[in-house]
Amino acid sequence: MATTQPAAFPDGFLWGASTAAHQVEGNNVASDFWQAENDGSWGLADRSGDACDSFHRWPEDLDIARDLGLNAYRFSIEWARVVPAPGHPSPAMLAHYRRMIEGCEERGLTPVVTLHHFTNPAWLTAEGGWTSDGAIAHFAEYVRAVLPILDGVRWVCTINEPNMVAFMAARRKQGLGDGSPFLSPPDPGVTAALVRAHAQARELLAAVPGVRSGWTVANQNVQDHGAGPDRTAEVSYLIDDQYLDVAKGDDFVGVQAYSRLRVGESGIVLPGPDDRRTMTGWEYYPAALEDAIRHTAARLGASTPLLVTENGIATSDDDERIAYTGEAVTGLARALADGIDVRGYLHWSLLDNYEWGSWEPTFGLVAVDRTTFRRTVKPSARWFGQLVRDPAATLGGPAAS
Ligand code: BGC
Repeated sequence: MATTQPAAFPDGFLWGASTAAHQVEGNNVASDFWQAENDGSWGLADRSGDACDSFHRWPEDLDIARDLGLNAYRFSIEWARVVPAPGHPSPAMLAHYRRMIEGCEERGLTPVVTLHHFTNPAWLTAEGGWTSDGAIAHFAEYVRAVLPILDGVRWVCTINEPNMVAFMAARRKQGLGDGSPFLSPPDPGVTAALVRAHAQARELLAAVPGVRSGWTVANQNVQDHGAGPDRTAEVSYLIDDQYLDVAKGDDFVGVQAYSRLRVGESGIVLPGPDDRRTMTGWEYYPAALEDAIRHTAARLGASTPLLVTENGIATSDDDERIAYTGEAVTGLARALADGIDVRGYLHWSLLDNYEWGSWEPTFGLVAVDRTTFRRTVKPSARWFGQLVRDPAATLGGPAAS
C-alpha cells in the first residue's frame, strides 16, 4: 500500500542553484570558446557576447539566491581569466573570484566552486589542448594559483563533466558541431588527460583545510531499448561509468542529470516526434535524477557521498519547470529515504544563460534581459524557494507512490 511520508532532507542539506563562468559572465575573451564563437570554427549559432554580465552583476545574482532562501551557490572560476598567458596568473582576477567566495559567505550561501567548466584558455587550445605535452602542468599551475583564494571553501568540483569534455573534443576532431546528437564516443586521449588533471588537482587541493573535492559527471542514464544488457552496459561504460569509476575514493561525486539515452538494436534511439521533448530536443524525463543517483550510488558504493550539482530543464513554460523539478526532487527524496548519501541539490540554472552556442534554450529560474541585464525572478524560482523552506508541503509527500 502506498505510504505518504514527509520529505526528509538531512540538516545541512545544500539547496542551491548553479552557473558557469562562460555562460553568465560575458566577454570571456581569452577563452577558446569565445574564439570559436567569433571565428566560426565550431559552427556555433550564437556568440556569448556580454552573456548575463554576471562578471559585474554577481552581487545581484547572489542577492537573488539569498532572497529566494537558498543556502548554496555553484559557480566556476575561469581558467582563461586567471591565467590569460601561461606563467602569468592574474592577481586581480584571483581577487575578483575571492570576492565572489566571500560574497557567498556573507549571504549565507555555501560556495560550490568549479575549477574547469568546459572552457580552456585559447593559448592552451592553440598548443593542442588537453592532449598537448604541457596541459597537465598548465592545469596544475592554474590550480596552484587558485589555492590561496579557496580558504574556507568546503566544496570544489575539479572538472565539470569530463565525459562531455571528451565527447566534444571527439566531435570537434571530426569537424562536427557541438549541437549535433550524441553518437560518437568520447576521445580516449582527452579522457586520459582529464583523469590525470583531476587526480593532480585533488592532490593539490588537499592542502586547503576542510575542502572536499571531486568531479561531476553528466549522467546519460543509458537504458536498454532493445540493445540487450551487454551492449547497454558497454555504452554506459563508455560514456558514464568509466568517469564514475574514477571518482571512487574521492570526497564526493557531482551528479548531473537531465534526461536519458536509450540504446536500441542499431544504436542510440533519439527522441522521436511522439516523445515529449524540451527546448534542447532532449526527452522530457524527470526520473533522470533519481535514475542517475541510484546508478551512481550503485557504481561507487556507500563510501562516496553524492552532490547533485546540476538538474533542470530548458523550457519556456515555467509551470513545466516546476513540474519537472518537483518530480526530480521527489525522486531524490526517495533515494535519500533508501539511505543513499546525497548532500545537496543544486538546480541548473539560476539564470537563463548562454547554452554553449545558443541563447534559445532557457534553463533559468531567473530571466535576464539581454540588453539591460535586468533580472526577473520567475514563478519557478519562488516555488523553488518554497520547496527549500518546506519540502514536505511543497512536494506533497515524496514517498507516496
Ligand atoms: C553543463 C551546463 C549546461 C547544461 C545544460 C551541462 O551539460 O554542465 O553547462 O548548460 O548541462 O545543457
